[in-house]
Amino acid sequence: MADGKNLGVASGALRSDDLMKSDGGDAKHAFMAAFSAALDDGSFAKLALGKFRGKGEASKAVVTLVLLKDVPHLKVVTSFPRKDETKTYKIEEGLSAIGSSIGETYMSATLFSTTRDVRLDYSRKGVPHLAIGKATLKTSEPEAHDRKKAYLVPPDRPYLKALQVADAEGRIKPSMQGKYRQICRFIEIADDLIKDSDLKKDAALTVIDIGSGKGYLTFAFYDHLTTQLGRRCHMAGIEMRGDLVDFCNRLARDLRFDGLSFVAEEASRSSPPHVDIIIALHACDTATDDAMALGVRGDASLILSAPCCQHEIAPQIKDTGEGLQGLIKYPLLKQRQADLITDAARALLLEASGYKVKMIEFVSTEHTSKNILIAAVKSSHVDRVTAREQYQALKNTSGFSTHHLESQLKDVG
Ligand SMILES: C[S@@+](CC[C@H](N)C(=O)[O-])C[C@H]1O[C@@H](n2cnc3c(N)ncnc32)[C@H](O)[C@@H]1O
Repeated sequence: MADGKNLGVASGALRSDDLMKSDGGDAKHAFMAAFSAALDDGSFAKLALGKFRGKGEASKAVVTLVLLKDVPHLKVVTSFPRKDETKTYKIEEGLSAIGSSIGETYMSATLFSTTRDVRLDYSRKGVPHLAIGKATLKTSEPEAHDRKKAYLVPPDRPYLKALQVADAEGRIKPSMQGKYRQICRFIEIADDLIKDSDLKKDAALTVIDIGSGKGYLTFAFYDHLTTQLGRRCHMAGIEMRGDLVDFCNRLARDLRFDGLSFVAEEASRSSPPHVDIIIALHACDTATDDAMALGVRGDASLILSAPCCQHEIAPQIKDTGEGLQGLIKYPLLKQRQADLITDAARALLLEASGYKVKMIEFVSTEHTSKNILIAAVKSSHVDRVTAREQYQALKNTSGFSTHHLESQLKDVG
């Protein structure tokens, strides 16, 4: 299959009469939009490519949806005289590769969805023609290549449907694969850490999510703790945007998540007396420090945060005679260096407060460069003095004088 750039087709639902109005280049565009829409709404069953005009001896190709580690991919099986060749693509890459081959390598393409068949045919002169027919296939079930028996985050959970991560049949929408992967990865990390922590098995948990946003991870974590782990749980999402708080509170009520509520508040103003677990996932700038400070003050057993943008340290770092000049003269590298210093300082301040800290890769760098998760577990076996010294050394060598978390923890012993 030839490589090609992303077609960027719209994936909204397409009515058959809209499709029939298409001609010329529009016909192919409409066909690809119908393909993309069928993938998005879960009606895609199969796509067949024929009338091969490319180099070599291939005759046809068949495209189906497969699950690889629970993530839908497009599998393209190309038939040659003596063998078949199989390639598997991520959805967007597959759409792009298939789109490039239609009208170049293959002069006919038929989309089989559970609602209709759509056929794109090129004449000898290369003019494309679209035809819509009744659906020949009735099922769109993807082939499971590597389906796990038990999901840590089952895709058919009601909150995933309500948040539009999954469709009505409980299949993750192609456009929400990244979000679902992030949810799964977070739950996997949190699950392991809870099992290793001192959080008593039968006690109700108090959990706070700082910068909860639209609540993807809040709902997922609450559902996991209560439904999958069977824990009693009081969870609050702290979010400064009132519209998101209203949305999430409505959803929590609809889902009967009785122990979950959302509060419209600035992170720095939140001060619960005790908390078991603090999470802050991509909360902006120093909201991450506020979350960590809240966890330390509330004697949290677990503090899980994935820092986002940060603006405090970059303007402060300077060459202190430690040979950093050649790095910080480039603004982009200076910012990256500042991000690392900010997170190292956070980790050391948490260690100095009695937490064991791990730096974990959260999601692939392919999706975001903000992919570090700082996991802090309360422990009595931490060398707090050394951590304090290392923090001071980091300050001296990189030249920053103020760090929001340090100021927040000033009065904490
Ligand atoms: C990038 S979103 C992340 C949302 C969610 N945690 C997630 O990972 O899906 C960051 C959210 O933090 C909120 N936020 C940023 N600074 C905040 C602060 N100081 N106090 C409360 N909320 C804050 C923003 O309004 C936004 O909704």
